[in-house]
Amino acid sequence: MTAAPATWWTTFFTEIYVDSDIELRDDAVADDMSRCVTAALRLEPGARLLDLACGTGRHAVRLSAAGFTVTGVDLVEEYLDRARLRAQAAHQPARFVQADMRDLRALEPGSFDAVVSLHTSFGFFPSHEENAGVLREIHRVLAPGGKVLIDVMNRDWFLRQTGVAFGVDQTDFVIRNFDSSTGRLYLHEERFDPATSRIRWEIRSVGDQPRTVAADYRVYSAHELMAMLAECGFAPTAVWGDYDLSPFSIHSPHIICVATAAAGRA
Ligand SMILES: C[S@@+](CC[C@H](N)C(=O)[O-])C[C@H]1O[C@@H](n2cnc3c(N)ncnc32)[C@H](O)[C@@H]1O
Repeated sequence: MTAAPATWWTTFFTEIYVDSDIELRDDAVADDMSRCVTAALRLEPGARLLDLACGTGRHAVRLSAAGFTVTGVDLVEEYLDRARLRAQAAHQPARFVQADMRDLRALEPGSFDAVVSLHTSFGFFPSHEENAGVLREIHRVLAPGGKVLIDVMNRDWFLRQTGVAFGVDQTDFVIRNFDSSTGRLYLHEERFDPATSRIRWEIRSVGDQPRTVAADYRVYSAHELMAMLAECGFAPTAVWGDYDLSPFSIHSPHIICVATAAAGRA
């Protein structure tokens, strides 16, 4: 398995990622996630909502249709172009802005009632400080008392998926999988590093012009994520385990955490 480039997020999120992540094409999953956001945040109609790392806008456009004033931010212009087309097709006024989640100065401070980060779009950066910096930027663009919702894969659940079922030694913490649902074949390998609590995820396309992209991201247990939120000026108020807002346990696939921004600087 090859190492991911130091700034892997600039090379991983291309066509190969959107084509090979099955969930991105599943409308039912995006519907569930969008309903989950609405139920978990309990915002007023018209509330100003930022979808941070919005990708191709599958949630942003649904949340706009649900009555919120939605802004989507992503690093990748190609994804934002797709999001704009998606909004246009659905006659939704959601706006999309290109920015790095570590630097949200393109957005007015205090200008959102809520920020969401969905489908494990948190923990990308090499250091704790940089990942915490994303939470501080979220705090800065939130109005006092505004809410953040973070949805990430539950580290403890991930560790229970490895081993015998995949024909791999339990101590290896490797998941190998493949997806051919598009008619194109992708091999996925996810390897957990217990020294860093990071997953290296490699996607290899198979065919005439094989390509490999690799990611390397931090995965969190619920208590770590909540401690980080507290460190960055938030008061965590709830944690759920799945999009149906079922109670959180170590068996839950997701950590869906809501926290409120305390007044003052993060
Ligand atoms: C796992 S995908 C999830 C996308 C979207 N939330 C969804 O559920 O469809 C992560 C997203 O983060 C974006 N991203 C990666 N690095 C970023 C950065 N530094 N700043 C802003 N967005 C970034 C990627 O382009 C990608 O769209």
